[in-house]
Amino acid sequence: MATVDAHIEQNKDRFLNELLDLLRIPSVSADPKYKADVARCAETVKKRMEEAGLEKVEVCSTKGHPIVYGEKIIDPAKPTVLVYGHYDVQPPDPLDLWTSPPFEPVVKDGVIYARGSADDKGQFYMHVKAVEAMVKTGNLPCNVKMMIEGEEEVGSTNLGIFVKANKQKLAADVVLISDTAMIANDVPSINTGLRGLAYLEVEVVGPNRDLHSGVYGGAVANPINVLCEMIASLHDKDRKITIPGFYDTVNELSDAERAELAKAPFNEKDYMKDLGIDAVRGEKGYTTEERATIRPTLDVNGIWGGYIGEGAKTVLASKAQAKISMRLVPAQKSDAITKLFSDHFKTIAPPGVKVTVTPHHGGEAAVTPTNSVAYKAASQAMEDSFGKKPIPTRGGGSIPIVALFEDVLGLKTILFGFGLDSDNIHSPNEHYGVFNYMKGIETIPKFFAHFAEMSK
Ligand code: BES
Ligand code: MN
Ligand code: MN
Repeated sequence: MATVDAHIEQNKDRFLNELLDLLRIPSVSADPKYKADVARCAETVKKRMEEAGLEKVEVCSTKGHPIVYGEKIIDPAKPTVLVYGHYDVQPPDPLDLWTSPPFEPVVKDGVIYARGSADDKGQFYMHVKAVEAMVKTGNLPCNVKMMIEGEEEVGSTNLGIFVKANKQKLAADVVLISDTAMIANDVPSINTGLRGLAYLEVEVVGPNRDLHSGVYGGAVANPINVLCEMIASLHDKDRKITIPGFYDTVNELSDAERAELAKAPFNEKDYMKDLGIDAVRGEKGYTTEERATIRPTLDVNGIWGGYIGEGAKTVLASKAQAKISMRLVPAQKSDAITKLFSDHFKTIAPPGVKVTVTPHHGGEAAVTPTNSVAYKAASQAMEDSFGKKPIPTRGGGSIPIVALFEDVLGLKTILFGFGLDSDNIHSPNEHYGVFNYMKGIETIPKFFAHFAEMSK
């Protein structure tokens, strides 16, 4: 390891500058106006993977944004680690809330500010640099395959097709992903679960045109009022979701499992202070951490309709719309929950309006065992570099391809994330610590070494 660590130490300035260059490319997958930038980002990732010593590196086109793939097979008899990450980023809006432009990275007090710094360019690029350090010093202990996609933030649909069509190419022993967070820089942790997702859009249409709210108000169903009532009815007073059948397939954790998860340090006062709120709110009978990880949820992500310009306009809008996400837990299935929602939502519509529900992307939840060779290798690697054993925690976000890796390739995933919940991913002023970036680059080769050794 000495030479790997020395290589990292000697090249750390270049490692940081290369990441900053990558962050200058606005690879926003959701917005077609960035299509050429996304393609340019894929080409850049390909070049960097080649420079790091990966072989057969290719940009694989899909019906959407391309996937970059490369590998270094040192001995087919040795184990293979499949690294996955995503080079696409969320839209940077709202722009006026950024203190520096989202695609002009700045490093201030040891923190890199830019869209994608933590999610996921700063994290997947740690693997490119870790591979460079292992290959260039002759210390790669097993095979590595690396697949970096451009559509994670829009649901990974084309990656799903690619994985199904390339089972042989992607054959491996474990998947390694850095796209999650730890508890704190001095409290390392490893995510052992992700939630699934069902995302849909609803539309409530009333009268055939916008109406004067004095002339017609009170006599016809107002789509915005109706949408609000309908959404409000989706939770009861205990903040349970009221959709019939919603909880039927939920895997309830045992008291022992809940007690184990509760061991992770969590300070609710600090949590509220960080968010500027004076109370938490959620499903009765569960802690804040449980509500955000092992319990399913339903949230409105956007709602619009009627007049939202300056001043007042007395109008009764013809239609109202909302975007709704449900975070799912094992063994809820995204399609089944989408159908339950859709059937229920149409049922509760009052006379006088028409309701349409349009599903968007989804994904299934995933859990990782903590008794596997790969988990032990990951835990040991973190202990080596942080001087503390990482705590297993469940994560609340979603990475749709993880469940597919298991279903299609039969592979379990290690969620080897080095970010923090406070990194503002998907928000203005997204950032990633230089400490976290360098710590990841140092820790990944230790995982490879332990995994190769423990697999013998
Ligand atoms: N990296 C996140 C997921 C994440 C973040 C997991 C923090 C655990 C902790 C990922 O890029 C993401 O944002 N996923 C989307 C999924 C989607 C758009 C299909 C999500 O969770 O909203
Ligand atoms: Mn991500
Ligand atoms: Mn994301």
